[in-house]
Amino acid sequence: MNNPIQVCWECPSNLALVKYWGKKDGQFPRNPSLSFSLKEARTRTRVTLLPREDCRLIFRFEGRPSPFEGRVGRYLDTLTGEMPWMEAYTFRVESSNTFPHSAGIASSASAFGALALCLADLDRQLTGEGDSPLLRKASQLARKGSGSACRSVYPGFAWWGESSVIPGSSDDYAVALGNQFSARFDTLCDAVLLIDSSEKKTSSSAGHQRMAAHPYQDARVRQANAHAEKLVQRMKAGRYDDFFEVVEQEAFSLHALMMSSSPSFLLLKPNSLRVIEKIKDFRDQTRLPVGLTMDAGPNIHLLYFKENREEIRGFIETELLSLLENGTWLDDGIGDGPVKVE
Ligand code: PMV
Repeated sequence: MNNPIQVCWECPSNLALVKYWGKKDGQFPRNPSLSFSLKEARTRTRVTLLPREDCRLIFRFEGRPSPFEGRVGRYLDTLTGEMPWMEAYTFRVESSNTFPHSAGIASSASAFGALALCLADLDRQLTGEGDSPLLRKASQLARKGSGSACRSVYPGFAWWGESSVIPGSSDDYAVALGNQFSARFDTLCDAVLLIDSSEKKTSSSAGHQRMAAHPYQDARVRQANAHAEKLVQRMKAGRYDDFFEVVEQEAFSLHALMMSSSPSFLLLKPNSLRVIEKIKDFRDQTRLPVGLTMDAGPNIHLLYFKENREEIRGFIETELLSLLENGTWLDDGIGDGPVKVE
C-alpha cells in the first residue's frame, strides 16, 4: 500500500493592535485590522488523508478526542465545495499547542491557521492548481474557520480588510506588511499577563454578532479605519509614544463596545483594571515606551521593546505577579510566522 498523504505545519497565534470586531455574512470583517504574529504561542497540526470511511474526521488534540471536533468537522464541510478532492478522504487531524492549555489563551487563530496551511498545501499537491501564493490561499481558508486566523499565516505584521491605506488589501484574506516599518518594531515584545483562565461566558462569535445592531457600529468602523491608518504612519515614522496611545484606545474601545452591546457583557476582571493602572503608573514614572492591549478576555498583553526587557521583567516580578492567576505570565513577542514541519 502507498504511504498515506500527510502534511504538518506549525502556525503562531497573533495579537491584534487594531481589532476585528463585527463581521458581515461569510466571515468578512466590518473594519480592517492590523496584527503581529507571535513567536511562542503556536499550534502544530498534522493532517493525514486516509481512504474515505463513514466517518469524515478523526480529530485528536494533544493525543485525545476533543470537543473541538464538531467545529473542525463543520469547517471541513464548508470547504468541500471549493476543494472537491476533499470528498474522497477521511481526515485524520492531530493538533497540539506549544503553550499551556490551562493558560486561558486557547487560540483559534493558531489552530485554524495551522489547519488551513495543511489544507492549502494538500490542495496544491493534489490539484497543482492555483495562481495565488500558498500563504494567501491558507489565509483565505483560515478566515473561514476563525476571522482573526487569516492574519496568523504570515511573519511579522499583517493586515486584513480592504482599505486604500494598504494596496492589495482584501476582505477575503490578510496580507503581510513586510519590512516597511521602523526596525525597532521588529523587536516588539508581548508579556501575556494571565488574569483569569476560566471559560468566558460570552464567546467572540456572540460579540461579533452583537455589532450588527450596535448603536456605535458606524462610528466604530470609522474609528478602526482611522486607527489603522494612524498606526501605519506612526510605525513607518518610528513614533513609539503615540503608537501605544492608539493601541490602547483600540483595546479600550473593544471592551467599551462589549459593555454597550445589547445584551451587554463584561469580560474584564477587577485584577485586569489593577494591572492596567499599574502599567500606566509605571510608564508615567519611568517614561519607558510601554503600552498594553487586550483581546476578547480579561488577560492583559504588556507591549514593550526588547531593549527594555530587563526593566519590564523586574516590573512584572515586583509589581504585577501578585495580581496574576498563579503568578503566571508568558514571555512572547513578534515572530517569524509559520513553518512547514515535514
Ligand atoms: O477571530 P475571532 O472570531 O476569534 O475574533 C477575534 C477578535 C479579537 O481577538 C477580539 C480581535 C482580533 O482582531 O483578533
